[in-house]
Amino acid sequence: MRKTIVAGNWKMNGTLAGSIELAKELGRVLSRQKLNRVRPVVFPPALYLIAVGQQIRDTGIELGGQDCSTAAAGSFTGDVSAPMLRESGCRFVIVGHSERRRFHGETSDTVRAKAAAAMAHQLTPIICVGEDASGLAQADLRSTLGAQVIGSVPADAHLNLPVIAYEPLWAIGAAASATPRHIEVAHAAIRSTLVDLLGPAVGEQVAILYGGSVNPGNCADLFSVDNIDGVLVGRSSMNADQFVALVAAAEDRRRREEGGGQALDQ
Ligand code: PGA
Repeated sequence: MRKTIVAGNWKMNGTLAGSIELAKELGRVLSRQKLNRVRPVVFPPALYLIAVGQQIRDTGIELGGQDCSTAAAGSFTGDVSAPMLRESGCRFVIVGHSERRRFHGETSDTVRAKAAAAMAHQLTPIICVGEDASGLAQADLRSTLGAQVIGSVPADAHLNLPVIAYEPLWAIGAAASATPRHIEVAHAAIRSTLVDLLGPAVGEQVAILYGGSVNPGNCADLFSVDNIDGVLVGRSSMNADQFVALVAAAEDRRRREEGGGQALDQ
């Protein structure tokens, strides 16, 4: 069974010293826990990747970039390439986050090219999709997400599996997450599109994360949704206690599913 991913997107926040402190604290706490069912991943700002990577080495926490170029190298001022991320210790990269789509005009075509660049350089892309408006009718929700998945997932995704993050825009940075029922409908639509696109053997294997105002107070409810393979977290990932609580909740949920075991110490 695939592990539950708990991904912390630090966005453009913090300082070098603060990021090192946060990484050190996460490493100290999480390395003491036997995380057999969860993969915690942190996504610091690109400038801090190497320093954060040094703090989390051998702790079980993995590293990811927040974005990458479609190109491997060249005259692209300000961009960071997939091979650079890989060389800096990353295993993952987020592509097509709604803030990139919105503030940098990234289309699904661009996102697909970024995901392909990541996969070509042994990075797992976390491809973000999500509807703008709340309250869509189910049929509209399904067709919006279906179109985004078809547009953003590379056709040869079976060679190196991507991860999809479902992040409804109205739930990002908001007071409340989407409801478990809404997420269930959205994830089912994404899953069936993946199965159509990649075939059942591959489409069923792609992990689907939920993101948007996930915190320790609502994660138990969210983890009760069957088809959630993990979470992509913004604000709650920049506080060590909260991120550790999310990781612990994910591990406990999986342990319970497997039929027992003690709750994790925090
Ligand atoms: P949030 O951010 O958890 O602060 O809502 C989520 C995201 O943008 O990935």
